[in-house]
Amino acid sequence: MSRWPNITIIQHPVVQERLTVARDRRTGVEEFRRLMGQIARLMAFEITRDYPTRRRTVETPLGPCEGCELARGLTLVPILRAGLGMVDAMLELIPTAEVWHIGLYRDERSLKPVEYYNKLPDAATVQVCLILDPMLATGGSSAATVDILKHWGAARVKQVSLIAAPEGVATLSAAHPDVDIHVGAIDRALNERGYIVPGLGDAGDRQFGTFAGPSSEPGHDPTDETAEVVRRLQQNLAREP
Ligand code: PRP
Ligand code: URA
Repeated sequence: MSRWPNITIIQHPVVQERLTVARDRRTGVEEFRRLMGQIARLMAFEITRDYPTRRRTVETPLGPCEGCELARGLTLVPILRAGLGMVDAMLELIPTAEVWHIGLYRDERSLKPVEYYNKLPDAATVQVCLILDPMLATGGSSAATVDILKHWGAARVKQVSLIAAPEGVATLSAAHPDVDIHVGAIDRALNERGYIVPGLGDAGDRQFGTFAGPSSEPGHDPTDETAEVVRRLQQNLAREP
């Protein structure tokens, strides 16, 4: 049982096996991208367990059969860039879902999210928003996205991530205790650059092949500022009951 009541860790062996391959540093860009979709598709089953349905009767070759159809009212909110890799797989299962894009990047020094794109429709038209982002690290990006969605009128928000750090789960849960968080794993901790350890590295770079050289590596040279941000998050986590 987790210390956070709002978190579900999807322990399915196929999810865990796929996640292990994604974590492997030898996995190349093409396979990594495929894995993002495969894991998202598997997680979608668990996450949509409470998805509302409507009755629908169809005719089989032998007569009428009462079945169901998925009610509309779900939207996918991928956080650019890395969340994009989870969208198509989810849409295969829930083709009626809307997709709203939010662009955020994490400032390398302050680790704070910076918003650069927002394509929400004018009015809140759906019941449930699923935030898609493979990594929940400090929790800053997802907490900011929930702020945006709630401010705009979203009724219910769920976070879907492949891997979370305990510091990020604590931050998101404290800021938004009503948000259900679904993850494949909660890892050990953040390193001094705010990367999840052991994690899988930089999910955006691994999906899109944008490696900027050794100085951009997740383990490379923390600044005093990032190390201090992470220290504060770890103190907050330690103070939790
Ligand atoms: C990554 C990741 C999350 C964020 C998580 O995005 O995809 O959005 O960092 O970190 P946080 O929990 O500490 O906020 P990044 O800023 O690297 O942008 P990218 O997806 O464009 O690569
Ligand atoms: N963003 C990533 O892509 N990976 C991490 O470990 C942390 C933030």
